Amino acid sequence: MAGDAAPFPYMRWAKAHLPASDPRSLGLSGLPRPPSGALDGIFEPFLEGGVDPRPVLREALAERYAMPGPDAVHLALGTAHANFVAYLAFARGGRVAVETPAYEALPCLGAAVGADVRSFRRCAENRWRIDPDALAVAVEGGVDLIVVTDLHNPSGTRLDPADLDLLVETAERHDAVVLVDEVYLDLDPLDRPSAATFHPRVVATNSITKSHGMWDLRAGWLLGHPERILEVARWDDLVCPSSPLLPAAQALAFLPQARPRLLENRARAAELTDRVDAWVRTRDDVWWTKPDAAFTGFLRLGTPERPLDGDAVAADTLTASGVTVVPGSFFQAPTWLRISYMLADDDLDAALASLGDALDRAVKA
Ligand SMILES: Cc1ncc(COP(=O)(O)O)c(C=O)c1O
Repeated sequence: MAGDAAPFPYMRWAKAHLPASDPRSLGLSGLPRPPSGALDGIFEPFLEGGVDPRPVLREALAERYAMPGPDAVHLALGTAHANFVAYLAFARGGRVAVETPAYEALPCLGAAVGADVRSFRRCAENRWRIDPDALAVAVEGGVDLIVVTDLHNPSGTRLDPADLDLLVETAERHDAVVLVDEVYLDLDPLDRPSAATFHPRVVATNSITKSHGMWDLRAGWLLGHPERILEVARWDDLVCPSSPLLPAAQALAFLPQARPRLLENRARAAELTDRVDAWVRTRDDVWWTKPDAAFTGFLRLGTPERPLDGDAVAADTLTASGVTVVPGSFFQAPTWLRISYMLADDDLDAALASLGDALDRAVKA
């Protein structure tokens, strides 16, 4: 078994290469935690008062995300768990169509539940819009689950409303479910509603681990039509028989702080996106679509005529300067790199300079 390919290679790599915090890492996909002390003592009342926080949290999330009620919310231990139970419920042994480039778990989950996985392209040259022809090919012969991220990981771009329409129409034709992973959506200054409010075929997953910086608090959820939520809950009986009280209590206590923190993080992410964009414009060996929101972007390396190897550039950057960047091969795009840049200004400038040095060496090689 040890020689078998890992079920989720990126996560093996991330656990080996990405420390919980590193001031110059361009690889950390979460935000810094709130200042220490900000959460002290805020959740005990839910536990000590004998109030079960889980139904209260479902109610609060339904209200926050404009879902009809708590029956439209399933609690999970992070977005990863929410995605897993969604795949189990809607795709096991079936057919999945996943965007590419994709956060690697999304195709890997299809394989894990025994599904036939196909991918459809999002077009770099068109603000990462969905390629309708590629989608049509991916669902030929049927599909059970269609999967995208919004904001798109790795590019940080929004899912265009017309693309969501297209996904829903496609799902209608095939009696399929659309899963939108919204783990970064809360960082969008446009305050867009969850895709789950859009159509009963859409389920959306999210958590407070990424956009809210509470990466070690495994509190996530799935939003959808109550019948689909029930289906997910039935499969989750196998995975997580008892949804724990503590993360629910912590998440519930955290929610009132969420808005002011989000506003701060959105503003800071926008500043840093401008800073990275200015750096990208100084280089003729890097191109990106400036992210719409969040703090993660996808860099194409070299030129279309002479692309550079993202794995080699990432390895050289790490060896030469200790700066981590995520190879695009983990997103099915070997001549790209993903960077996450929620760093102090000086650290970001230094990390980008190190990446630039590695690119200079690659161009000369
Ligand atoms: C698109 C996407 N979905 C899910 C996850 C996992 O989220 P969580 O930590 O809430 O399980 C990540 C983590 O980076 C992610 O990028």
